[in-house]
Parts: sequence; structure tokens; C-alpha cells
Amino acid sequence: MKTVQKEHPRLRWVTLNSSEVIVNTGVDIIEGLNQTPKTLPCRYFYDDRGSELFEQVCDLPEYYPTRTEQTILEAYAQDIAQLTAWCELVELGSGSSRKTRLLLDAYSQLDDHLHYYPIDVSEAILKTTAISLLRQYPMLRLWGLAGTYEQALTQLSHTGLERRMLIFLGSTLGNLDEGECDRFLDLIQQTLQPGEFLLLGIDLQKSIDLLEAAYNDAQGVTAAFNLNILNHLNHQFEGNFDLNQFTHLAFYNSVDHQIEMHLRSLKAQTAILQGLEYQVEFQAGETIRTEISRKFHLSSLTATLEQHALSPLHIWTDPQAWFALLLCQRQCTAHDCP
Ligand code: AVI
Repeated sequence: MKTVQKEHPRLRWVTLNSSEVIVNTGVDIIEGLNQTPKTLPCRYFYDDRGSELFEQVCDLPEYYPTRTEQTILEAYAQDIAQLTAWCELVELGSGSSRKTRLLLDAYSQLDDHLHYYPIDVSEAILKTTAISLLRQYPMLRLWGLAGTYEQALTQLSHTGLERRMLIFLGSTLGNLDEGECDRFLDLIQQTLQPGEFLLLGIDLQKSIDLLEAAYNDAQGVTAAFNLNILNHLNHQFEGNFDLNQFTHLAFYNSVDHQIEMHLRSLKAQTAILQGLEYQVEFQAGETIRTEISRKFHLSSLTATLEQHALSPLHIWTDPQAWFALLLCQRQCTAHDCP
């Protein structure tokens, strides 16, 4: 089901069964492209090239979420460590772990033992990051998990870790629709023991101009990131999407409070995914919605978290209240603590 490798005395490496991913994901793609309007699951952005492009997006002048969340962490990482006391850090969608280094710095001042479990679908980015972190933190023990969040969380609920803090930064929660978000929070509720923590970074509602600029950058990096999803499908499923015949579109949907990214077909065309024995037709101007990025209101998010036995203990924001970091604690329910 999984491969476990040891390449460094302080590193353990788990690759969760990739054939399971392919079976599931093929179904997602066909389901999404058969819908009207067409959609694709945004997880397909993140092949190795997509993960690199996303790192570039995070550095764009228009893309405020990364640097805003970073300033909040710079100001409050020590407080977070003090509030939780020593615990193992488990990060979902860790990527280059650049913001997490602020937490690793703060937790390394609390105790000689630093335990970090980065989880990411991109094995390449996980490995590069693991090597650099092990060099930077001599007391760090790192257990990398290459796989989807669902696979990793299921896996984690079976390990006998001590007190943990699950870290989910970057407002990735916003990429899930309401139903997916509920199922995801259910899984977190099942994974965490009462008393354990969730550190959640979320993007807040703000002016449409700022939001739309963040997803339509002048250098075209977000457009390249969006188009790369077709490249990924071409490689993984022997597809023939012509990237020159689609264009990037991103706008704020103020009814659903979400940025939507789409790929618009520049002409009537047909694409084939041989690996899935699937063919899809496009009208000229038709779009595929590749991502939603929900922008939250703190009071409704807090209520949703409470419904999943995750109580926000502390909420920090930047001075403009563009972004928020929530430290939540898993509460006992009648089921856990009869
Ligand atoms: C990963 N996720 C939170 C990013 C977002 O802002 O929704 C992905 C992204 N899409 C375009 N730019 C960044």
C-alpha cells in the first residue's frame, strides 16, 4: 500500500500508493468535464511544474495572501508555540515550507525535540524541502508523506503520535466548496484527539479590485499556472489539449464570495485523453472552471469550525484585516468523552 524509505538518520519518507490516486482522479476528471459548466479538480494544478509555478505566484507583487500570512506568522509564531506548548507539527500542503520555518524557529526554542510531518502531493518539492530543513535544523526529525490530504489524514489517524498541531496555511481551505469543506473538517475532527490543535490560515473578504488583481498578475504567472493543469492532464493521461487554444480568466463572484479561475476555449475544439478513453468537446468561448478560492467572513467560518468540534482559541489578523490565522483546539464531543 505504501513505500517507506530512510535516506537520512533524521528523515523518514512515505509514498502513499500512487495507483489509488490515478484510479480516483480519472473519475474526477471525467465527472468534471461532463458537467455544465465544465470543471476540473484544482488538485491537478500541482504536478512538479505546477508546484514550481505556485511558488512563483506566492512571490508576485499582486498576490498579497502569502506575504500577509507571513507577516502574521512573523509577529505571532512565538505566541502560538507558547499557547500550544510542545507538540508535533503536521502540515497539509507543505510545499516549500517557507512560512512553517517561522513556526519551526519558535518551537525549537521550546524544546530540543522538533518533529515535523510535511504532507504534499508533489514528491519533488517535499524531497528538496526536507533536505534543506534537515540542514537548517540539527534537532529536527522529519517524516515526509507524499500523497493527498485524505490519504495522509487517514494514515495519521493510525499512527501513535503524541500531541499534534495540524497546520493548514495559505487559505487552501478556500479551494474547497462548502460540501468539500464540511467533509474535510469532518476528517480533521476524526483525525485530531481532544486537546490537539489546528492552525488555519484563511483569506478574508476585501475589495474586488485587490482580489481580482491577485489572480490576474501583470507577468502572467497565474495564467501559466492555470494553463499548466492541461499540460498535467496531457502528461498523466496521454491527452492532446492544445494550450495555445485556451486562455486564462479570473474574476470575483460576489454572490458566492469566491474568486473563480477558468480556462476559456478560443475555438470549437475536441480534446482526447487516451489514458481515460475519454473525449471532450468545447464550443468557442466555453470555459472550464479550474478553481474556486473562497474569501471568508470570520464569524461564519468560526461557526462552521465550532460545528466540527474545533474551537478557535485565538485569531490573529494583519492591520488591514486581509488575512487571518486561527488557532483552534479540538474539543471533546459526547462521542469522545462520554
Ligand atoms: C493554494 N490556493 C490557496 C491558492 C489560492 O489563492 O486560492 C491557489 C492560487 N490560485 C491562483 N493563485 C493562487
